[in-house]
Amino acid sequence: MAFDVIILAAGQGTRMCSSMPKVLHTLAGKPMLTHTIESAQQLGAERIHVVIGHGAEQVKQHYTDYDVHWCVQHKQLGTGHAVAQALPEVNDNNTVLIMYGDVPLLKTDTLDKLIKAAASGCLSLLTVVLDNPTGYGRIVRDAKSCIKSIVEQKDATSEQLAINEVNTGIMAVSAQHLCRWLPKLNADNAQSEYYLTDIIAMAVNEGVSVVAQQPASPWEVQGVNNRQQLSELERYYQIGLAKQLMRDGATLADPARIDIRGNVKAGKDIFIDVNCVFIGDVNIADNVSVGPNCVIENATIGQGSSIKANTVIENAVVGEHCDVGPFARLRPNTVMAKGSRVGNFVELKNTKLGSSSKVNHLAYVGDSTIGQQSNIGAGTITCNYDGVNKFKTTMGNNVFIGSNSTLVAPITIEDRGFVGAGSIVTKDVPSDNLAIGRGKQKNIEGWIRPVKKQD
Ligand code: UD1
Ligand code: MG
Repeated sequence: MAFDVIILAAGQGTRMCSSMPKVLHTLAGKPMLTHTIESAQQLGAERIHVVIGHGAEQVKQHYTDYDVHWCVQHKQLGTGHAVAQALPEVNDNNTVLIMYGDVPLLKTDTLDKLIKAAASGCLSLLTVVLDNPTGYGRIVRDAKSCIKSIVEQKDATSEQLAINEVNTGIMAVSAQHLCRWLPKLNADNAQSEYYLTDIIAMAVNEGVSVVAQQPASPWEVQGVNNRQQLSELERYYQIGLAKQLMRDGATLADPARIDIRGNVKAGKDIFIDVNCVFIGDVNIADNVSVGPNCVIENATIGQGSSIKANTVIENAVVGEHCDVGPFARLRPNTVMAKGSRVGNFVELKNTKLGSSSKVNHLAYVGDSTIGQQSNIGAGTITCNYDGVNKFKTTMGNNVFIGSNSTLVAPITIEDRGFVGAGSIVTKDVPSDNLAIGRGKQKNIEGWIRPVKKQD
């Protein structure tokens, strides 16, 4: 049952009021068109054709890594004309599934049913019954309830306007039928467009059966015309992801205040407080708690760890039973080993923090490796950059860095090395050594504080 997919995405999307093509606007962090292309890929399409027009170059640039066939529709002469642009490249022996680039939430189950129905030679349509069908093409049925045609809103009689079963635009049909029918379309209608929907009456005339299927929820077929609709779809999608997390064993302080822009894999007995954003692939093990306002991107959080309020984590691994935050920032390639701690206003970048080691307050540690049970005092800075190159800092086990120290890399502080507070350390510190690199304190006896001059 081989099939091709044609995605229509040439429309301008005027109501988005945007210089960016509509289909590039994102839902859950991903352009709408990506959702559609990924559905087509998951279904196993032999080939995916995308019809583009407005902003064609901008759209193409986004998908250089994708295996799709682009067809440019220079003038938007209607949905029938759009499909005709892709048809020459479609495999003649295949079924064709037609999708819209601005309908991002279709489920693969729904599409699969459509394709299966069309594989037996029918034209299968996805329809939906709406309380308010305004704007949509109406499904006209005969006395026996068989589909006769689709009538567009602008061409409909008042009787037809009362029909509330509408065309979603998504359909599946054999390529051979399309090759016969599309050349027969004309633009003799209220919008002077080549309507794809006119092929329904052609099918009926030829005795090809037309069958309708419905999606599990009307949200699946909801298209996006403006930013308000986009936000409504986003919220619907997010609440679905939140419910899945709760089914997996996470307690959410408020399922309406979490955003997932990627995939979150969650263990059991996790607590997630309000306003957290998860981006990319995030893995959260059992018994983790995430405080309010955290942003966690492409990260793994080990079991029993606590991520406190306002922490930002990106491309990092937090081991088991770690404490991070509040107000911590873990930048790419940071790895925290078991039981280590990073506290408030601490930034770690490309750094391995050994087990049970601590960087608890106001520090920057970059391009570093720190052993076990070491303690980096408040205000410590690794000077890893000379303006041109980056250098490494290496610390062993049980190292102690006194507060407000400046470690000028490349530098090594060996096991049990101890740096006195306020030091500027430019030379390696051997094990069991104390390094003090600061101006000697001098006390001046009898010092008299300055006093204000009297006029
Ligand atoms: C279309 C259907 C209507 C259906 C509605 C569902 C037709 C004639 N009408 O109406 O029955 O109820 O969708 O939303 O098919 N596009 C192109 N090139 C074009 C025209 C459109 O690529 O020349 C693309 C658009 O980018 C969009 C999709 O096709 O993704 C639908 O176009 P749109 O103008 O929204 O269709 P409607 O007129 O609303
Ligand atoms: Mg239109």
